[in-house]
Amino acid sequence: MLRPPNIFSLWSAAAILLMCHVGGQAFAATAKFNYLLHCGGCHLPDGSGVEPEVPSLRDKLGPLTKSPEGRGYLVQVPGASQVPLTDQELRDVVNWVLVEYNASSLPEPFDPLTTDEVGKYRKQSLSDPLEYRKRFWPDESAQEMY
Ligand code: HEC
Repeated sequence: MLRPPNIFSLWSAAAILLMCHVGGQAFAATAKFNYLLHCGGCHLPDGSGVEPEVPSLRDKLGPLTKSPEGRGYLVQVPGASQVPLTDQELRDVVNWVLVEYNASSLPEPFDPLTTDEVGKYRKQSLSDPLEYRKRFWPDESAQEMY
């Protein structure tokens, strides 16, 4: 009996072809896509945020990658820790935000977040991120940030 073509397998074939074609850019494309889908609604597509409610994610996060508290903080903020992404996907999104929007403030050398770090820290979601930020970075004006 003749059956109509399975539309889903056609779509998967197209998706696989597209992924092969994109090749090396697949990581950045996926991370950017996940950023736009899961973070951009609040932090805006260009990461500039909506001050004072939603902080900007541009040009200031680099120094946080130098301490364990800072690295943890990046994925302990509720928007990141509770996002429906795997540890690896969240790692890629945050590293993408760091490289894409914070190149000017990244330390040299820059150590990207690892999947293990993300898995460990995101379990300890912060109930009061502002307070935590003030405790570990007292020299940064919280008013300016939020
Ligand atoms: C529902 C809105 C919302 C979404 C979605 C969201 N955030 Fe946030 N984000 C906030 C708010 C509000 C803050 C300020 C701290 C707080 O109150 O949680 C914040 C703070 C942050 C901070 C700390 C910035 C700083 O300078 O202290 C980072 C990093 C961050 N978010 C990353 C992300 C990432 C990555 C995603 C996506 C996986 C994301 N956020 C999704 C609203 C959001």
